[in-house]
Amino acid sequence: MFKKSAEPRRTRDGINIFQEEDFAGMHKAGALASEILDQVKDLVFVGQTTAEIDKFIETKVDEAGATSATIGYRGYQHASCISVNHVVCHGIPSDKRLKDGDILNIDVTVIVDGWYGDTSRMYVAGKPSRKVERLLDVTHDSLMRAIDVVKPGNTFGDIGHAIQSYVEAERMSVVRDFCGHGLGRVFHAPPNVLHYGRAGTGPVLEEGMFFTIEPMVNLGRPETKVLADEWTAVTRDKSLSAQFEHSIGVTATGCDIFTLSKAGLFHPTY
Ligand code: MF3
Ligand code: CO
Ligand code: CO
Repeated sequence: MFKKSAEPRRTRDGINIFQEEDFAGMHKAGALASEILDQVKDLVFVGQTTAEIDKFIETKVDEAGATSATIGYRGYQHASCISVNHVVCHGIPSDKRLKDGDILNIDVTVIVDGWYGDTSRMYVAGKPSRKVERLLDVTHDSLMRAIDVVKPGNTFGDIGHAIQSYVEAERMSVVRDFCGHGLGRVFHAPPNVLHYGRAGTGPVLEEGMFFTIEPMVNLGRPETKVLADEWTAVTRDKSLSAQFEHSIGVTATGCDIFTLSKAGLFHPTY
């Protein structure tokens, strides 16, 4: 006997192909992560600490009856990663106070009914310089350009190429040491979603793939190093770094963005 409905499938690259009904679970998880980041906006100001922001996020996750994916993940102890200025990613919330013009990426991952919603965006304490505004705009636009090429038949290389070609034309650099990832009922799954690459290379995108795109863009060189705390990744040349992240699912004609801000707050308004 043959089963009528399609069984859960995995490509030869180990990428899960999810079913239509799985999109609802991802939308719910993505919406919660995104709503929390919407609310965080009012907590970012000069003199604030990133520990205080993290505490707010942890409370919001609890109040929603959800679970933080990062607390307890490989020994990480916080509900968010908050990466200030030249911190590229995985910044640990601390009691250090934000200064005028500081830029920060806040990255939240929640688990709702077993589904993972992973998103991050940039905030500014006080007033950003023109240079900083340009970094944030280019980083945000690189993610949205990458999302624009997501549809069945295109490849993961097309995603990387969309980001790299745009960022480098703007005379900024793409971090190579960290990448996006498949997700769904786990935090990190195949494939590695590279933010650089050649068009037409890599696995072919198929309907039902769930993954993040989360480009990190530096004003200086792309090299990073991880500090002694074994989490905090910084630019080697101390240049400023920015990042935006969405969780998405490939549809028949393009993709759904699970972590869209319904309040329109994904991109900072300066
Ligand atoms: N949310 C991050 C990502 O985009 C991962 C953070 S893992 C942590 O993949 F342990 F550092 F929180
Ligand atoms: Co991610
Ligand atoms: Co993330």
